[in-house]
Amino acid sequence: MQEAGSASAVGKKLLRVLAGKHEAIPPIWLMRQAGRYLPEYRAVRERAGGFLELCFNSELAAEVTLQPVRRFGFDAAILFSDILVVALALGRKVEFLAGEGPKLEPLRDAAGLVGLRQTVDQNVVAPVYETVSRVRASLDDRTALIGFCGAPWTVATYMVAGEATPDQAPARQFAYRDPDNFSRLIDQLVEASIDYLVGQLEAGVEVVQIFDTWAGVLGPDQFDRWCILPTQRIVEGVRRQIPQAKIIGFPRGAGAMALPYLEMTGVNAIGIDWTFERSIARDMLQSRAPVQGNVDPLALLAGGAALDHEVDDVLKELGDGPLVFNLGHGILPETPIAHVERMLKRVRG
Ligand code: CP3
Repeated sequence: MQEAGSASAVGKKLLRVLAGKHEAIPPIWLMRQAGRYLPEYRAVRERAGGFLELCFNSELAAEVTLQPVRRFGFDAAILFSDILVVALALGRKVEFLAGEGPKLEPLRDAAGLVGLRQTVDQNVVAPVYETVSRVRASLDDRTALIGFCGAPWTVATYMVAGEATPDQAPARQFAYRDPDNFSRLIDQLVEASIDYLVGQLEAGVEVVQIFDTWAGVLGPDQFDRWCILPTQRIVEGVRRQIPQAKIIGFPRGAGAMALPYLEMTGVNAIGIDWTFERSIARDMLQSRAPVQGNVDPLALLAGGAALDHEVDDVLKELGDGPLVFNLGHGILPETPIAHVERMLKRVRG
């Protein structure tokens, strides 16, 4: 007999949770799940020659997207690419030096805006869309495909400084000294992100995540202006073209600003980092929308009792509502595979 509940035995767990449903065993995927902690990733990256070469080689990028799903049976694959592809597609120079992270030509003031393209270079993003179609064609009917972009603020922090910095002081300085020109940069990133996310959705991703890794360095007024408002415009712009688009926002370090972020941006779900107090996340956020998170990546690295405690606490505080089980930030390259297996076993029983 076909019961109402049996519909939940097929289909994609992640999509059900993003529609607001509760799952007894939450869907699970990990930020940065394709990466250096996997020997099979390191082998393919070596074959590709470099990180950006890998991002733009659709066949190999599809392969590394699928690797963690094959190994761990995650409920979602996340497109293998990088948030800084958008800077490249706007005509900036971007490099990844081994062991040093990204290097861009810094964009410190209005003069840097002159050469910026008005629209995304389709030649740059075409291989990313090709990766999406390839991955989608290889996934089974239980595993969702997630696309992404960096939030305008976070992408701008790298474009302005030209590299990773501890506190994103260069972008914050630019925003204070010359808010009009900084907002021109943000506006262009908003338009580019809408275009890029719509392209990914049309190519076959089912969910997109907006990574605002550096949201937490902004004071409340600046958070409204550079994090919430641009994200709201992206959500509206994407939904104007794809009304059903499912969008996860990840404003890392938002703290008390997570509530206005959730209420004003219109995202379907909110990702929280590991510093977010879980009972507050439950009462303040999960009562309104699904929550994603938030195991400390260092607890996963440590493993053992510390990891078990962290996993149990996420399930205890957030497991009775719509939850996407994840880390509170990306998996660290030194993480032992056995610890990932242990975490999955604990979540899935
Ligand atoms: O999550 C996934 O598995 C999908 C792929 C993905 C990557 N980067 C691959 C990557 C995603 C979603 C990102 C997002 C990204 N990229 C963010 C936001 C999320 C976060 O982690 O904060 C940011 C800030 C970037 C920019 C970036 N890319 C930095 C600062 C670095 C250097 C630091 C590092 O981890 O090496 C990267 C490089 C990068 N992006 C790697 C990977 C697998 C490592 C590069 C390598 O293989 O050598």
